[in-house]
Amino acid sequence: MDLSQAIRERKSIRAFKSDPVSRDQVEEILGMAILAPSAINLQPWEFTVVMGDEKARLSRRLIKAYKEKQISCSPGNVKPLSEKFSKRGAESFELMNPCLAGMGTDFGTFINEGSCNFYGAPVGIVITLDNAFSRARLVDIGIVLGYLLLAAFDHGLGTCPIGLINAYEDEVKDLLNIPDQKDVVIAVALGYPDMENPVNSFKIPRESLDSFVRWID
Ligand SMILES: Cc1cc2nc3c(=O)[nH]c(=O)nc-3n(C[C@H](O)[C@H](O)[C@H](O)COP(=O)(O)O)c2cc1C
Repeated sequence: MDLSQAIRERKSIRAFKSDPVSRDQVEEILGMAILAPSAINLQPWEFTVVMGDEKARLSRRLIKAYKEKQISCSPGNVKPLSEKFSKRGAESFELMNPCLAGMGTDFGTFINEGSCNFYGAPVGIVITLDNAFSRARLVDIGIVLGYLLLAAFDHGLGTCPIGLINAYEDEVKDLLNIPDQKDVVIAVALGYPDMENPVNSFKIPRESLDSFVRWID
């Protein structure tokens, strides 16, 4: 697949088929992802791949933790967001509401429980960063994540980044035996997209380039 096409057409998938994804496929995708650049070629990323019964166990544990703690998907701001940013997030997801109403659910339940369940994907990939690294290395994790999403798309698979997992780090580390010194940064739901499910029918738009760029010449 042409790279420009992959960049244009990739989108987050929030309903997956139950068809399994093989270990070979995951290895191929991760093999592409780790070609990402990193500062001083430190390659600070680490992946824990969860499949099968263990993935189902992780989902159950996360949904239980969500029901107890009620920590929802949020941008995790450290200061109130300006109107420009808060409007942008809200407007993006309004697209989803009619479709969720048709499914008899609301946005919060769908996104939070769905994220905890990796939206039914057969594979969850948890990306960790050793806490010896500075926060600057989160940039490298972001780049490897981007490569992973595009590589999966190129292999005909769908993905959804799951930032919510960060709020349930203790549960994830406990269940997956992730050592204390590793920070859970993000996870990715990976599987075959269920394109018949209306939740996968729309694409969240972007602002025009002008709203992001300031030219100095
Ligand atoms: C760092 C990061 C964390 C995210 N966390 C979640 C999440 O926990 N649950 C979810 O449903 N989507 C999550 N997403 C997906 C975003 O909502 C999605 O990328 C954004 O709305 C743009 O849509 P698109 O990916 O379809 O282009 C996350 C994306 C990123 C990059």
